[in-house]
Order: sequence, then C-alpha cells, then structure tokens
Amino acid sequence: MKKTILTGLRPTGKLHLGHYFGAAQNWLRLQNDYDFYLEVADIQALTDNFDNPDKVRMNVREITIDLLSIGIDPSRVHLFVQSMIPEIAELTVIYSNLVTMSRLYRNPTVKAEIAQKKALFGNDGESVTYGFVGYPVSQAADITAFSGQLVPVGEDQLPLIEQCREIVRKFNSIYGETLIEPEPLLSPTPRIKGLDGNEKMGKSLGNGIFLADDEDIVSKKIMGAVTDPDKIKKDDPANPDVCMVYYYHKLISSKNLDNICSECKKGERGCVACKKELIRNMMEFLKPIQEKRAYYESHPELVDKILLEGTNDARVKAKEVMASVRKSIKIDYFDEK
Ligand code: TRP
Repeated sequence: MKKTILTGLRPTGKLHLGHYFGAAQNWLRLQNDYDFYLEVADIQALTDNFDNPDKVRMNVREITIDLLSIGIDPSRVHLFVQSMIPEIAELTVIYSNLVTMSRLYRNPTVKAEIAQKKALFGNDGESVTYGFVGYPVSQAADITAFSGQLVPVGEDQLPLIEQCREIVRKFNSIYGETLIEPEPLLSPTPRIKGLDGNEKMGKSLGNGIFLADDEDIVSKKIMGAVTDPDKIKKDDPANPDVCMVYYYHKLISSKNLDNICSECKKGERGCVACKKELIRNMMEFLKPIQEKRAYYESHPELVDKILLEGTNDARVKAKEVMASVRKSIKIDYFDEK
C-alpha cells in the first residue's frame, strides 16, 4: 500500500520560482510513489482575503494551470478544491473544541503572522479574526480528512503540523483511535531568495520571477538583480556567493556553472553578459512550462474537468473519514451501520 501524502497551497497568486524550487519540484518526485492529495486551499486563502473573493476565485484556476503546466499529473494526484469538500468544514468545527485559545495564539506561525498584520495595519490586532487565529484547526482538518500520513512542507509550516498532531492525539485519547497522526516531510530545498537578495521570494515583495512571466518581464527583472556591490568595472574580479545572478544560475544553469563561477572570480565575465546568459537559460527553462500553460489556457473546460474529478475522488476519502469520526464522537445517529 502506498503511503498517503497531503499538502496544500493558497490560491492568492500565480506560482513563482520560489514555489517551484522550494516545494513543487519535490511534489513532482513524490507523485510517483505516493497516494497524493494536493489541495487548492481557497477557504484558507479567504481567512486573509475574505474581502477579496474575486482574487481567490480567479487564482484557483491560475494555480491549477500552473500545477498542471509544471507536470503535476492528474492521473496520479488528487488535485482538489478545499471549499468543495464540506467534510473539512465539519471536522474543523469538531476539532475546535480540542484546541485552547492560548495554544492557538502561541502557535509560532500564527504569532508571526499576527505580528506582521499589526505592523502593517498599525493597530493592536483588533482586526485579527476568529477564522484567522483558527486556521491551524482548519489545516488539521485538511490533513486528517484524507488520513494524510506525510505532509510535505517548508520549515515555516512545522508549527501547524505539530498543532495538527496534538489535535489528533487529543481526539484519539478522548474518543478512541480514529485519526492518523501525520508527520512533516521537510522540503529538501530551503526557501528561495528573491532577485533583490531578500531571504524570501514573495508574491507581494515584487522580487520574484513567475512561471508565467514573458521574456520582456524576465529580462527586466534579471537586469535589475543584485550583484556583488564591490564589482565596479566589467573586468573586476567578484564574489559569486553574494550575487543573486549566480544564485539563479545555480538553480538552472547546471551545464555551464563551473565556468560561470571561475570566470566571475577571475574578472573574465561582465555582469551584463552574465545576466543575458541567465535570461536565455531562464527562458529555456520556462518555455516548456509556458507552452503547457498556453494549452490549458485555451482549454478551460479541461482544467475544470480535472479539478472536478480530483475533487470527487478526494471527497470519497473524506466521507469515509467523516463517518468514522461521527461514530467515534457518537453523533452517527442515523448512519448506516
Ligand atoms: N498553510 C499552507 C501555506 O500557507 C497551505 C496549506 C493549506 C497546507 N492546507 C494545508 C499545507 C495542508 C499543508 C497541509 O502554504
């Protein structure tokens, strides 16, 4: 029996290279060996974007197209939409009794996000909603609704998996062994830096390359990337380790990498030429992805069909889990025995 893995992503924007190298590339490997549930977490996206439903709605399809374009294979992966699995909402309500408010506020991920909001909106956090503070509970429902055994995530998500494990243990100790306790599967690549040298490539930081960016945009972005500040003239020797152009060459220019590094160190490579080479390689890397994107964009009915089938599949599993949960907490009044 294949092990079950589940992971999710919020549909708040198109995928960029940070998503690709930090997470999705790993999913492409995992889809061969596991029973893989991949959730487009629209309900979770609404915790932050409840006042912008159009954005979430549009990005459900955009993200799905991105995932299909990079090679997520719907014949192996159950690609589904969170809001279309009502069992997740049911489980969220049931689990909410098993989590204290103080434990939620102490969750490091939630804590950091609340601190960010306070800084952003300059208030004491009165605008932090119940739904937002509680999203770890809903994420625990995402995972357990499909009996996820492994959850591939980045480091920032570890506190959420830990919280899910606590909920599972508490549930099982009160109501009897019912739920599977998941384990995190840490992404082998750490988070990907932005073109500006920022530790994180972020949708809102404007420092990333989207998988759908065309050559003009990619050129502009790479031409503006941060290089070794001590290199003034074209033939000055430089330190590739502080250069974002070299950082991206490392991700996609494996063929010529040794040359790039040694020429840079010896001052035999100007930054402009080096950036142009990166632009060429980047477009070569993006081309097959963008061709597939164009195909799916012109076949929206196919994208809908994939999502619908993946969701129907996923719902079968969620219904099974829900039935056992109802039984354990003794609310299975009229369920068939
Ligand atoms: N919280 C995750 C993120 O922001 C997305 C997510 C939703 C998720 N549900 C999940 C991740 C379940 C792992 C498992 O990236």
